[in-house]
Amino acid sequence: MCGIVAYVGPRDAQPILLDALGRLEYRGYDSAGLAILNGKGVEVRKKSGRIEELAKACRSKPVNGKSGISHTRWATHGAPTDTNAHPHLDASGKLALVHNGVIENYLELKGQLTKSGHKFLSDTDTEILAHLLGDTFEASKEKGEKKLIDAVRKALTQVQGTLGIAVIHSDLPGLVVGARRGSPLVIGVGNGENFLASDSQALAPYTNRVVVLQDQEVVALHADRFDVASPLGQKADIRVEEIEGGAAASDKGAHPHFMLKEIFEQAETVRSAFRGRLDPDEATAKLGGLNLSTEELREVERIFVLGCGTALHAGMVGKYLIETLAKIPVDTQHASEFRYGDSPVHEKTLFFAVSQSGETADTLGALREAKRRGFRCLGICNNVSSTIARESDGGVYMHAGPEIGVAATKSFTSQVVIFTLLSLLLGRLHSLSAAHGREILNALDRLPEHIHSLLKQSEKIRAIAHKYAQAHSMLFLGRLANFPIALEGALKMKEVTYVHAEGYPSAELKHGVIALIDKETPTVLIATHDGVYDKNLGSLQEIKARGGPVLAVAHEGDTKIAGMADAVFSVPRTHELIQPILNVIPLQLFSYHTAVALGRDVDKPRNLAKSVTVE
Ligand code: AGP
Ligand code: GLU
Repeated sequence: MCGIVAYVGPRDAQPILLDALGRLEYRGYDSAGLAILNGKGVEVRKKSGRIEELAKACRSKPVNGKSGISHTRWATHGAPTDTNAHPHLDASGKLALVHNGVIENYLELKGQLTKSGHKFLSDTDTEILAHLLGDTFEASKEKGEKKLIDAVRKALTQVQGTLGIAVIHSDLPGLVVGARRGSPLVIGVGNGENFLASDSQALAPYTNRVVVLQDQEVVALHADRFDVASPLGQKADIRVEEIEGGAAASDKGAHPHFMLKEIFEQAETVRSAFRGRLDPDEATAKLGGLNLSTEELREVERIFVLGCGTALHAGMVGKYLIETLAKIPVDTQHASEFRYGDSPVHEKTLFFAVSQSGETADTLGALREAKRRGFRCLGICNNVSSTIARESDGGVYMHAGPEIGVAATKSFTSQVVIFTLLSLLLGRLHSLSAAHGREILNALDRLPEHIHSLLKQSEKIRAIAHKYAQAHSMLFLGRLANFPIALEGALKMKEVTYVHAEGYPSAELKHGVIALIDKETPTVLIATHDGVYDKNLGSLQEIKARGGPVLAVAHEGDTKIAGMADAVFSVPRTHELIQPILNVIPLQLFSYHTAVALGRDVDKPRNLAKSVTVE
């Protein structure tokens, strides 16, 4: 994981690196550091904790120089300490390196280097790579920048695992060398200055012209030019893309946290997910980006959805929708499991990789595996310029706008809207009637209005959250399409409050989970009117009989539930298949308000990162 920024140009590097790094903090925030060529050598500042800690260190002792590299870390190897923070130096102290990813054979390499006299200061895998590079550099007979490029190229053949790196050397002022294998890196093309970053948004105030580095490519970056070489060392084709500015993304507006802002944006973001995609005349959906003809869509006999965390939960709601409306069997699997498993897959299967960031390493690995096996794989992504968006055979964008809060909220509801559109499209190619299709379309159309009215309950939910904030453990129950909503509610609660929470199908309660029920353990039960409403009421009674508090998600005006539950999250009533989109919103708000009551760092919960680009 982690974010990388590098700069070469006429300006002071330090303020640019710190500013751009701030926009990458979503990628990790265990520690931050920078290294700048100051005219005499490499000067390093690094601090554990947030980028602000590094900024403080740099304010009290600035580093002057016009080229440098920087890093915000999400630790994989070694604790989040000052010493383990990047950049890391080689044995000579003249080469500095930042790294995004994991060196899988680092122990073996460490053993070899230790035998030849190397001493390591940190516990990271990255420092091994710095020493390896330094050794090759010193041994090389080449001159000038080729010497560093060759060392990087050779290191790429020696290390296993994923990497995005940026390197400077005090013998080569005005040069930054970057390379990628797996982890993303973009070149920001400026006027008389150039940049490297893990994503283009980091560079938004400086340039909107970027070149996406391809896997195995190596770039030599100077102030007035950059040269990209392919894995075999030939000059690579370069495509400069213009990106849309993203400065507004980091603006919380009137909200105290991005998470709350993003929860409140959902009335609009769900609309963006279906805008221009509804076809009322044919009672279906239009999804041109799938790149599949009607005939090809009709031939799909199975669907396989891959994703991680929240994205997988959206896929699980998608399974329910597609199986109900289109009668096509759907498998869902954690991307990390699929990529290493032997699951047999039916030959007429269409894959979907779901990912807000489009950079999740597990999902990307699974997508590549599915493609390797010869399947067509589509993406459902928010980040348009992401690796998953680029590598899929087509797909659907969420258009939800940047999601900054580490806990995914608006991306989830957008993903479920997209699965609704997909199930409608596929359903209408099979047996779904126009009348039924129209009911779904009407419900989608009214969704923003329903969300708007639901969000007015935020204060009421805050009061409930304060009442139960001291609980050590919570259960989340729901059935059918609301089972993934229960999983998502539990995930949100764990992520932002650190309160233990588990999601289960309601009826599973009696198969073991019920042992956890006591008067200190609240259960959030999703019990809106549907085919299993009465069954859910049965679960409610079982919990109450054992003294457990029940917080029910129920339809507005449901007096029956109001009379039995300890608290009610009221939601407007919509079509049964659209209802999960509304039901998740009070759970997002409940987690948010509980986290605030407990004084948690809502937008940057401990140990997490927004985009998990390591396995
Ligand atoms: C959600 O709140 C989590 N932060 C996490 O589970 C996330 O959904 C998962 O890492 C997948 O991310 P992606 O959608 O960017 O691929
Ligand atoms: N594996 C490296 C470390 O733990 C880099 C992790 C990252 O990508 O932030 O320091």
